[in-house]
Amino acid sequence: MPDDSAWTNDEIEALVSERARILGPAVWAAAQPDARPVISFAGGLPDIPSLPGEALLRAARAVIEHEQREALQYGGTFGPQPLREAIAERSSRIEGIPVGIDQVIVTSGSAHAIGVVCETLIDPGDTVLVESPNFPGSMRTFRTFGAEQVAIPMDDNGLRVDLVSEALDRLQNEGKRAKFLYCIPTHQNPAGCTLAVGRREQLVELARKHRLLLLEDDAYGELWFEDEPPPSLFALSKGEFALKVSSFSKIIATGLRMGWTMGPPALISRMASVRYDMGTSPFQGRIIAEMIRNGDLDRHIANLRSIYRRKLERVENALRDYCGDYCTYTAPLGGFFLWLQLRPGMSSRDVQLAANERGVIVGQGPQFFADGAATDHLRLAFSYVGMEDIEEGVHRLGDAMAAVAARQAAK
Ligand SMILES: Cc1ncc(COP(=O)(O)O)c(C=O)c1O
Repeated sequence: MPDDSAWTNDEIEALVSERARILGPAVWAAAQPDARPVISFAGGLPDIPSLPGEALLRAARAVIEHEQREALQYGGTFGPQPLREAIAERSSRIEGIPVGIDQVIVTSGSAHAIGVVCETLIDPGDTVLVESPNFPGSMRTFRTFGAEQVAIPMDDNGLRVDLVSEALDRLQNEGKRAKFLYCIPTHQNPAGCTLAVGRREQLVELARKHRLLLLEDDAYGELWFEDEPPPSLFALSKGEFALKVSSFSKIIATGLRMGWTMGPPALISRMASVRYDMGTSPFQGRIIAEMIRNGDLDRHIANLRSIYRRKLERVENALRDYCGDYCTYTAPLGGFFLWLQLRPGMSSRDVQLAANERGVIVGQGPQFFADGAATDHLRLAFSYVGMEDIEEGVHRLGDAMAAVAARQAAK
């Protein structure tokens, strides 16, 4: 009799790869809108009322009318040609350097791009430098490829480039070489800060000197509020030493799962060659290309800048009124996040729990550190929360902080 009993968990475990075992059975979910009646400052999600449904519909109709044949077929692992062309043209303008189509690959969001970079470059045991704190999704990706992560601290002006230099020297003395440095120089997640232009120049100089690849994550770079951010590492290195990973998630919608990466053509080509997904959707790619060509994307981003600037203002006013005794922060120049430093002795976990009890969700510090250690930070995403809920949410957060501070004083 053939044994037709269901697979046991142990049997599955014996089947799965080393990588799958590092990941473990838990399924990692990106932030999603909360169905509970809560006020959420937790997820790095875009503003809901401004999602550009009409512009997407218009573009989709134009694609079906004029490009149906190409849009509904495989498009290859570099990504849809018209989108690569539109990105190259638009990026040449934004970056201030000529960007060719052979420098562009389209991926299923920037998380996918970072995975493809790791598949292209990382062997188990390799070293990567990561700025700290950092986006947990990327740190998880590096870990699953077996990379050893060396955390480089930041301050209000972004990555401590002097410490990058020290780390590179140390690695060199140990006979090791970092495969890349991963950083989010503009409107960082979670710290909100932007790497100062002088430090960017120093970093590019270091990259040149040490032949170090910079993996520049620019998920939030276009969402500036007053002034355009400093030139990207990609632009400063004339496209040579940085792979710049970008996303349509925060400037159009996370549900599209579309992003792109720019870098040296030979590396972009290697990224295309390791892919086994037959490429990112030609249909969606053409829809976004149409939004770039007809100006809808730039108009939408300009609108988002003003929405997020107003949300940040509202959060800052409320923080002043309700949380001023318990935390400090450096105001971000763009993006989605405020990084609150709690008063000495207050634990982010306690504040998070007390806020949850009051129907307010915030991200707490340790998840953003490679060693999970820091306990005195909270991340406040101001992007997704409804404009009308901001004051109430921060008010309740202030109550939570007051309760934690009172308990601490009574100890
Ligand atoms: C810094 C950073 N990089 C990458 C991602 C992944 O975004 P996506 O894959 O949707 O482009 C996120 C999402 O929150 C992020 O914050």
